[in-house]
Amino acid sequence: MPKAPTELADEVREQVKDKKSYLGVIDRLNKASVDKHWEAYADIPWDDPEFTVDKNDPRWVLPPFDRLGETAWYQSQPPEIQAQIGLWRVATAMKIGLQFENLLKRGLLNYAYRLPNGRPEFRYVYHETTEECHHGMMFQEFVNRTKMPIRGMPRSLSLIAQAAPWIPLVSTEMFFVFVLGGEDPIDYVQRKSLKGGHIKHPLEETIMKIHIAEEARHISFARHYLKHRVPNMHPMRRRILGLATPVVLGVMASNSVGKIRDLMAELNVIDPVNKRVWKAFGIWDEPKQRRTVESAKAA
Ligand SMILES: [Fe+2]
Ligand SMILES: [Fe+2]
Repeated sequence: MPKAPTELADEVREQVKDKKSYLGVIDRLNKASVDKHWEAYADIPWDDPEFTVDKNDPRWVLPPFDRLGETAWYQSQPPEIQAQIGLWRVATAMKIGLQFENLLKRGLLNYAYRLPNGRPEFRYVYHETTEECHHGMMFQEFVNRTKMPIRGMPRSLSLIAQAAPWIPLVSTEMFFVFVLGGEDPIDYVQRKSLKGGHIKHPLEETIMKIHIAEEARHISFARHYLKHRVPNMHPMRRRILGLATPVVLGVMASNSVGKIRDLMAELNVIDPVNKRVWKAFGIWDEPKQRRTVESAKAA
């Protein structure tokens, strides 16, 4: 019996003032991974007639407030073409998602490979990798069922992205910034479309709910890892992290990087020099915390 999540989980967000609370977060994330996880071929009823993917299904048509959906050109297309374009977009997002997660898994394994015995991160990173394997299978199965020639990332981006799995060998902190750079924006977009009721097809809805539920844990781990590690970094390494972060995020996603930027501000990684890099990539906005302090002062 399929058991898609019924409600959207929120990430665990706690302060990690000391090592004990950091270990407590990892314990809870481990337990949650054991208690609530989904398997691509056990929990999704792929062959249920209601879950059939038909490229001409009007449920794939883009909503009128979509940037492409609102154009006169799109609206002048026959209904089947509108549906096919909509489905192509969903499948392309899943293909890019599974490519990103493939890089992510290789990076997580490179990180775990070098962890000494007894390190608490090892088990959680293996839980996360297992979950990402199921995400990759469910995304690819969906893509296959569209029977469309879905390419995914542009070749040039795919080529640069091959460096990502090696980032943990240089800096594990930088690697988890990369993780958040991919997972935070995807999570934001998926939550928004689910809450807005724009997902009409039950297969897409099931896949998205499973994904959001498990990504909440991955995002929690990455955030807490950074909160635990960045304050103790060597000043020089921290400065390099501060410069590299806006470059990586600028290449990966030009929207919805606000949460990571606020985290970096909270960890004192942002300085006047790298602030210019954020601005150069067009991804700067005053961090929330400071905005609140300033508006409190102004009041
Ligand atoms: Fe995932
Ligand atoms: Fe993830």
